[in-house]
Amino acid sequence: MTADGRRGLAIIGGGKIGEALLSGLIRRGGADGILICERNAERAAQLADRYGVPAVDLADAAARARVLLLAVKPQDIDTLLARLGGVVDAGHLVVSVAAGVPTARIEAALPAGTPVVRVMPNTPALVDQGMSVLSPGAHAEERHLDEAEALLAAVGQVRRVPESQQDAVTALSGSGPAYFFYLVEAMVDAGILLGLPRALAADLIVQTALGAAVMMRDSGEHPVVLREAVTSPGGTTIAAIRELERHGVRAALIAAIEAAHDRSVELGSDTH
Ligand SMILES: NC(=O)c1ccc[n+]([C@@H]2O[C@H](COP(=O)([O-])OP(=O)(O)OC[C@H]3O[C@@H](n4cnc5c(N)ncnc54)[C@H](OP(=O)(O)O)[C@@H]3O)[C@@H](O)[C@H]2O)c1
Repeated sequence: MTADGRRGLAIIGGGKIGEALLSGLIRRGGADGILICERNAERAAQLADRYGVPAVDLADAAARARVLLLAVKPQDIDTLLARLGGVVDAGHLVVSVAAGVPTARIEAALPAGTPVVRVMPNTPALVDQGMSVLSPGAHAEERHLDEAEALLAAVGQVRRVPESQQDAVTALSGSGPAYFFYLVEAMVDAGILLGLPRALAADLIVQTALGAAVMMRDSGEHPVVLREAVTSPGGTTIAAIRELERHGVRAALIAAIEAAHDRSVELGSDTH
C-alpha cells in the first residue's frame, strides 16, 4: 500500500480482454486488491458476482487502486481519458491495452509525469496462454515495466518492444488468434466435405493445431524444417502444399496482416 492508501489494481472496462485478464489474475493470485470498473451496470454486476471483486466507479477506482488498467475500445479511450485526467496523478501507473492508441496520447490527457505502459495482449490470456507485448511511455521506468510485466505474466508470456513496433505486434499477436480460428474453421469445412462428422473433424484439427504449436514452441526448429518432415516425395502433404501455393495463401496471409497493421495505425490517429 502506498502513503495515499492506494493498493492493487483496477481494471477499467470489463469486456472480453478485461475479463480475460481479471480471470487470469484471480486464478494466479486470488481476487484480493482487484477492482473492476465497467460502465454497463448489468455487466459490472455479472463480473463482480462471477469473480468476487468489487465493482466501482471511476473516481473510486482511482482513489483506491495504484495501477489502472485501461481495457476499453480505442473509440472509447478519449472519453475515458477526459474523465481520468481529473482523478489520476503521477503516483498511479496507467497500463493501457487499447489497440493502436499511442502512449503520448494517453499522457497528454493525464497529469504531467504520469507513468504509462502500453500493452498489446491477446485473448488466449483466458486460458493462461496469452502473448502480451509491452512498451514504455515517456515517464515509465524499468520498475513500471517490471510491474506491468508481472501483471501480464499471470496470463501468459510477455515481451517488450519499442513503441514504434506496436502496430506490427497488434497485427501479429493481437489479432493473431482470429487467423488461427479462421484456418481451423476452413479445415473443419474440408473434413465435412470429405464426409467426416463435424465434431470429429473439429477434434482432429484442434488437437493437430495444438500439437503443431507445441512442436514449434518446444523443438526450437524452424517451421520449414518441421513442415518438410511431414512432406514426403510424391506424398499427400506436397499435393496439399501445391494447392495452398497455387491459391496464394502465403501472400494472402501477408496482405491480411499488413491490412491489420494499417488499420491499427488508422485507429491510433482516428479518434483524436
Ligand atoms: N478482443 C481482443 O482480442 C483484443 C486483443 C488485444 C487488445 N484488445 C484491446 O482491448 C481493449 C478492449 O477490447 P475488448 O474486445 O475487451 O472490448 P469490449 O469487449 O467492447 O470491452 C470494453 C468494455 O469497456 C466498457 N467501457 C467503455 N468505456 C468505459 C468507461 N469509460 N468506463 C468503464 N467501462 C467502459 C464497455 O462497455 P460498453 O459495452 O457499454 O461499451 C465494454 O464492456 C480494446 O482497446 C482492444 O483494442 C482486444
